Amino acid sequence: MKGEENPYPFLMACRRRPTSYTPIWLMRQAGRYMKEYRALRKKYSFLEMCKNPELAAKVTLQPIERFRLDAAIIFSDILIPLEPMGVAFEFAKGEGPVFHHPIREKKDIEKLKIIEPEEETSFLMKAIRIVRKELEGKIPLIGFSGAPFTLASYLIEGGHSKNYILTKGLMYHDRLAWDALMEKLSEVLIRYLNAQARAGVQALQLFDSWVGCLSPADYKEYVLPYSKKVIDGVDKSVPLIHFATSNATLLELMKQAGGDVIGVDWRVDIGEAWARIGSEVAIQGNLDPVILFGPVELIRKEVKRILDRVEGRPGHIFNLGHGILPETPIDHVTALIDAVHEYSSK
Ligand code: CP3
Repeated sequence: MKGEENPYPFLMACRRRPTSYTPIWLMRQAGRYMKEYRALRKKYSFLEMCKNPELAAKVTLQPIERFRLDAAIIFSDILIPLEPMGVAFEFAKGEGPVFHHPIREKKDIEKLKIIEPEEETSFLMKAIRIVRKELEGKIPLIGFSGAPFTLASYLIEGGHSKNYILTKGLMYHDRLAWDALMEKLSEVLIRYLNAQARAGVQALQLFDSWVGCLSPADYKEYVLPYSKKVIDGVDKSVPLIHFATSNATLLELMKQAGGDVIGVDWRVDIGEAWARIGSEVAIQGNLDPVILFGPVELIRKEVKRILDRVEGRPGHIFNLGHGILPETPIDHVTALIDAVHEYSSK
């Protein structure tokens, strides 16, 4: 079914069509704040779960069975396409991802492979097919990838970074190498996102999680052309959410790069953000994930505040401003979802 024709509130909102209530899903909705997830995680490593289609499908559905969410997101990770490109990594305990041989110069970039996602990440495509079948059309399924900058930063830094000195170093000192890396990543991401669309996802999200470390001028010069290339290269019948954190100063430029929906974090007022990017795109966001640690009355008050700022305009997808945190109280997630549905019902 094409996005334009179907009745799901989430997909309608992606296209800025009116809905009877504001749809909500949560970034990282399948994960460690759920005891069902932690129980499975005792038996399998995170990457084992990503690479096993049956397990990935099961974990994707865990939050759907428990909460009245308006979309599912396939359980995977933004780093998954990097391994078949030839870059090995692991998740070290408590440290996040670690790449033992970071990409730092031209010869490393030349070695990176352009992948065939249907073959080299077939487990993901299979997981998507299983989830679509299990969902029986109840809610739509979102696929995703990292954006070129965020993936480049992991490849170059060798893991998470605070100041992005090596990433910016390559950008500033070796423009040709930077462009070659971003070009290769863009090509892989176009293939990877389109393969997910062919496998059955009904929307896509591009995570540019760490791009907020850049000045608007650097974003425009070194990143925007590649994010735009990826977005332009993806099947237009599937709506695309273009998300970043700390992106308050980049909103107009992110809109220029493209996306049917722009995802914003909590550091910006959603009403102001929407006024700046204009009414021809939808918006996703933007509750601070830490508000979920507060009392239920505060959560409800903050939901109302965000909905009031949106003023009932079509094209709002409620979400957190970034991923849900592992220690989040589960009842507060239910309270959030109920408050969004209740206050926004027309
Ligand atoms: O949203 C969803 O529910 C789908 C699943 C999903 C995961 N990662 C599962 C995950 C998605 C969409 C991602 C995207 C992702 N992965 C991003 C972009 C989103 C963001 O948060 O900005 C990034 C930067 C990554 C890379 C990554 N993966 C990191 C830095 C970590 C470690 C973080 C930590 O808190 O330990 C991961 C691991 C990861 N990805 C987990 C999950 C559920 C935790 C794995 C575990 O130990 O069980």
